[in-house]
Amino acid sequence: MEELSLEMTGIVKEFPGVRALDGAEFKLEHGEVHALLGINGAGKSTLIKVLSGVYRADAGQITLNGRQIEISSPQAAIDAGIATVYQDPQMIPSFTGYENIFLGAESESTGLFPRIRRKKLLARARGLLEKFPVDIDLTRPVGELQAVEKESIAILRALSRENMSVLVLDEPTSILTRKEIGILFEQIRMLKESGISIIYITHRLDEVFQIADRLTVFRDGRNVATCNTSAEGIDHARIAELMLGRELSHVYPPKGQPPDDDVLSVKDLALAGRFSETSFTAKRGWILGVFGLVGSGIDDLCKTLFGVLHRTAGVTEINGRKVALASPADAIANGLFLVPGDRRAEGQISDESVAFNVILSNMARVAGLGFLIRRREERLAAWSMVEELDIKTPDVAAAVSLLSGGNQQKVVIGKGLYTDGEVYVFQEPTVGVDVGAKAGIYEMIRRLSADKGVIVVGSDCEEIYGLCDHAMVMYQGRVVMDKPASEVRLEQMLLCGLTGKARE
Ligand SMILES: Nc1ncnc2c1ncn2[C@@H]1O[C@H](COP(=O)(O)OP(=O)(O)OP(=O)(O)O)[C@@H](O)[C@H]1O
Ligand SMILES: [Mg+2]
Repeated sequence: MEELSLEMTGIVKEFPGVRALDGAEFKLEHGEVHALLGINGAGKSTLIKVLSGVYRADAGQITLNGRQIEISSPQAAIDAGIATVYQDPQMIPSFTGYENIFLGAESESTGLFPRIRRKKLLARARGLLEKFPVDIDLTRPVGELQAVEKESIAILRALSRENMSVLVLDEPTSILTRKEIGILFEQIRMLKESGISIIYITHRLDEVFQIADRLTVFRDGRNVATCNTSAEGIDHARIAELMLGRELSHVYPPKGQPPDDDVLSVKDLALAGRFSETSFTAKRGWILGVFGLVGSGIDDLCKTLFGVLHRTAGVTEINGRKVALASPADAIANGLFLVPGDRRAEGQISDESVAFNVILSNMARVAGLGFLIRRREERLAAWSMVEELDIKTPDVAAAVSLLSGGNQQKVVIGKGLYTDGEVYVFQEPTVGVDVGAKAGIYEMIRRLSADKGVIVVGSDCEEIYGLCDHAMVMYQGRVVMDKPASEVRLEQMLLCGLTGKARE
């Protein structure tokens, strides 16, 4: 096989009101893992969609092994050996896992998957799954699978392309667990050894140093730097600076004041078989951080508190009043909001506008006003949110599904912040959000905590540690640490989440 080299030059792609790519350059070498970095909306996903034939560029050239090529359709990209795992993989929910894996690869169109082919395909899919040791039932409709399993199906789909010489992964790890990330990295190393070149998009800078040989930073649709990850002076701070175009002064806001009165008090909350009696409080002027890895029970804890799952024990009080919280509607009526982290799994993102989404959870605030005023109010609220969270969108009337992944996440956060509640639970608040915008979200959460109850729950230890005034750690359904943040070190907290044991 000829040694691959892929070069994209002068790529321009415009959308109404946005120049997503503005003379972008990108060069990929044989057998390298090349990280593509940049803040939300920098143009990363657009670049790979041009490369994979989803979009036609308005200008620019792509050469493969020295020859200019036209990638006029997704099929053309696949024929050229380019396989892509998109940030928001599209699947047919009623189709099984293996059918989704081979979707589009099967060109004999009548009857989509004839019975005889099905058997063969299932066997092939199982063969692929063997190399990617996650346990998925490939015969179940993907609509019934968890987000993590769907992501794995999307990766298997890319790996199923036999002539693949370039693999593009757009934020593959954002919803994978630690163990699955390990498996994915193993896969990437194997593919690389077999001569496949990989483009890897991520916001997790530590992953860049773990897996990538080189990195390219995009800003405003153009590249601002390409270098080896081992190059001198290249560290987290320098990369953040390149991404933002300025120095990042601080990421986490200063810690809170001594706490005020309790807004939320939870006693002995439990869900049999999932997590045991757990007590905590949220106070004004204070942020409670709850850290736990997958399997720790933090997800069940949030869902139970919010009334999605039905508690087997426990008493909840908001501002001193006992509340039942038997359903999410109950929770919201009592002023408790859960701002979910995974925008895809929770079905947060729609074709509705940014304005509509921001307003969604708080119809009451603008209801009662006349229709026109309501529209006006909706737009105003949306604009202030767009400004505060630095959401990159040409207009608040734009559909959220057209925003970049990280900007979609900001809309979800905005939606939570616009509500008029007493207690806010933020679950994994910055999934897929870039370093600069993260700081903005942290600041808003801190500001909110001045007179509301705020709880931040997640599996990013550094984030929870950086934000909180009081630290709680969960492990296998139990609280294993519960201390003022000033009395713990980050390493202790992480170790405690990993092992369930608090060490000095
Ligand atoms: N189909 C589309 N229609 C309109 N605008 C779009 C479309 N796709 C992307 N954009 C805009 O182009 C810009 C670049 O988006 P892109 O998705 O490439 O960003 P990104 O670097 O992948 O960001 P993120 O880290 O948030 O995923 C954004 O401003 C986005 O809103
Ligand atoms: Mg993207």
